[in-house]
Amino acid sequence: MKILVINGPNLNMLGVREPEIYGSFTLDDIEKELKQYARELDFSIDLEFFQSNFEGEIVDKIQNALDKFDGIIINPAAYTHTSVAIADAIASVNIKTVEVHLSNVYSREEFRHNSYIAPKCLGQVAGFSKTGYKMALLGLYEALK
Ligand code: DQA
Repeated sequence: MKILVINGPNLNMLGVREPEIYGSFTLDDIEKELKQYARELDFSIDLEFFQSNFEGEIVDKIQNALDKFDGIIINPAAYTHTSVAIADAIASVNIKTVEVHLSNVYSREEFRHNSYIAPKCLGQVAGFSKTGYKMALLGLYEALK
C-alpha cells in the first residue's frame, strides 16, 4: 500500500514557526514518527514524503500520484483556505485522501474555518498536533485494506 504524505507551505519551518501554536518538533520528527507507526500498523505500508511552498508543485505532485499511490495524506497548510486548484487536483485523480491540521483550525481565526480541500477528502483530522498524521494514516489504512 503506497501512501503519499504532502505538506504545504511553511511546514518546513516547524520547530521555529510559532511554537505556541504548532509545537517545537520539526517536520522531520513528524516523518520519522509516522514511518515508525506505519511499520507497527503493517509492514506493507510504503510512505513517500513531499513538502512544497508552491501551489503548482503540489498540484503536479497530486497529478503524478495517479496510478502510483493508493492514498494521500495532506496538510495543505494555508492553501487549505485558498486553493481551488489543489481541491480540483484531488478530485481529478480520485485517490482516497485525508486532510490533516496540527492545530484546531476551527478554534482559530474565521478565515481558517473554511477548507476547499475537505469536501474532496475521505475525512479531516484537526487539533491533535503531530498525532493527527497517525490518525489520518490509520483511517486511510482501514479504508484501503
Ligand atoms: C495548518 C493550519 C493552517 O491554517 C495554517 O495556514 C498552517 C498550518 C495546521 O497544520 O494547523 O500553515 O494547516
